[in-house]
Amino acid sequence: MSRVRRKVAIGVTVAAMLAVSACSSSTSTSGSSASTGAAATKDVQVFTWWAAGGEKAGLDGLQTVFKKDCSQYNFVNAAVAGGGGDKAKTLLANNLKAGNAPSSFQAHAGGELSDYIANGQVEDITSEFKADGLDTAFPPELVKQITVGGKVYSVPANIHRANMVWVNPVVLKKANLDPAKAPATVKDWIADLAKLKAAGVTTPLVLSKGFAEEMLLESTLLGDLGVQKFNGLYDGTTKWDGADVTAALNDFKTLESYSNTDRDTMDWDAAMSKYLLPTNPASATGGYQLMGDWVPAQILSLNMPTSAYKYWPAPGTNGVYQWLSDSFTLPKGGTNPEGAKCWLKVVGSAEGQKAFNTVKGSIPARSDATPAGYPAYQQWAMAQWKASKLAPSLAHGSAGPGAWNNDVQTAMSAFSANPDVATLQKSLVAAANKYSNWRSTLG
Ligand code: GAL
Repeated sequence: MSRVRRKVAIGVTVAAMLAVSACSSSTSTSGSSASTGAAATKDVQVFTWWAAGGEKAGLDGLQTVFKKDCSQYNFVNAAVAGGGGDKAKTLLANNLKAGNAPSSFQAHAGGELSDYIANGQVEDITSEFKADGLDTAFPPELVKQITVGGKVYSVPANIHRANMVWVNPVVLKKANLDPAKAPATVKDWIADLAKLKAAGVTTPLVLSKGFAEEMLLESTLLGDLGVQKFNGLYDGTTKWDGADVTAALNDFKTLESYSNTDRDTMDWDAAMSKYLLPTNPASATGGYQLMGDWVPAQILSLNMPTSAYKYWPAPGTNGVYQWLSDSFTLPKGGTNPEGAKCWLKVVGSAEGQKAFNTVKGSIPARSDATPAGYPAYQQWAMAQWKASKLAPSLAHGSAGPGAWNNDVQTAMSAFSANPDVATLQKSLVAAANKYSNWRSTLG
């Protein structure tokens, strides 16, 4: 285990531990504690950050199939609210360290999962994976992201896309911009943001805290550098201190200057409802929001019509799918491993993936899925997935370990408070130097 990963697992605070028990029991749908009495053997405690809106709708879809296929068990919803898992991941690390593992927890395929593997916190599930035919059900590149030393450690539920922009057509018309037409480059987008501002639009770019700022940064890097150089940032072949990165960071600074100044006070869904797509459409003051494709699920859960918004890949990133995959694990020492295995079977099944992804905004990870029965967004996304080049996301764990992501998010909030490009670049370089060899530290 690397020293870096050990450090991530340490740092328990009593307050955080109390917080996780409070949140877990308050969101438990069965109302029972997973660790007491006769119910303990039946309860399957599933830990995620899908506590509300479209995210919860996805989890509910999986739960429905679980109730049918695993009727001998109780589903216990241990979700901890907070977009991108900002609170959930810290609390989970604390719980795992304290020996309080749930039955199964959500982890992103790739770097994020590698943390749990390196820390010895998740079981090898290779035999169950193969017995269910999952070794051939998923794309081989995805199976690689959940495998270490020939052993498989999680079951992917979906593929999400990070590099997407959601657009309010009514707001864009104020500057005579065509909402269906994506600006070709980051610079073109900046020009359109300036037009919106000149037309009196108060929040041309809707932004929220933490991971959303990091996503905007990653999309700007991807748009400005192109997919090959962008991927090189995470495999060590592109230098974080290069002049091309400096230029992209300057673009990022300009983009952020068009965003709401209360960005650090709210999560992505609150910012969406406040600025981009409020309940009263006439009160919208936001033009664009860069966010992953859990957005259409959120809009669906709010019963808004699909005509209320448009979408396109972030400027400069057309033809690239910046992917991330939610997967589920079998924690070491978790409650009810047999029940958890039933849960994992549901997660990997064609029926489970359909019940989940139709309402989650993502596309099924299984290669045998067909577009029939999915909303228009996912049908489009499935076609895009097949035709696009791939790039990973650090904000959502596919590009690197959690500790790298944490350092970048710290740099992002410092930048939001004091937008100095040189300082940001220095922090990004330092983070990459610390963590970019993460793959080589795995067995
Ligand atoms: C991601 C996760 C998505 C969605 C999003 C916003 O990390 O993979 O499924 O939940 O956070 O919370």
